[in-house]
Amino acid sequence: MIIIPTIAIHRDPNFYPDPEKFDPERFSDHKNINPYYYMPFGLGPRNCIASRFALIEMKTLLFKILLNFEIEPAKRMILPLKLVKGAVGPSSYVEGDFWFTFKRIS
Ligand code: HEM
Repeated sequence: MIIIPTIAIHRDPNFYPDPEKFDPERFSDHKNINPYYYMPFGLGPRNCIASRFALIEMKTLLFKILLNFEIEPAKRMILPLKLVKGAVGPSSYVEGDFWFTFKRIS
């Protein structure tokens, strides 16, 4: 079995300066992103067949949530986030997992 360490690649400062900074704009310039350094949907002939659908689905979902709720990290969430060493597959990549509170605003 070969495992591609996507999360490590996505946080490598050689490819992404200041990788811990929340900077969604870094992904705006699609043409300058090397596909081998950005592969949430895999690469090559077996990559995700629904990547475009998934992106639209996520954007729609986020839009609806952000329109109606204020979201804050819950007290039980460990901040700053600490990555779990050796996490592979669908297991959690951060210590203690992600926890948020949702306050309805509309
Ligand atoms: C954010 C959501 C999603 C992510 C991050 C994601 C990611 C991935 C990744 C990493 C692969 C493996 C690619 C590879 O082996 O190189 C994959 C394969 C696949 N995905 Fe997704 N996926 C998402 C949503 C979806 C949805 C919504 C569907 C279907 C409606 C879907 C259908 C598939 C299928 C059928 C494959 C296997 C393709 C093949 O083996 O030829 N995915 N996806």
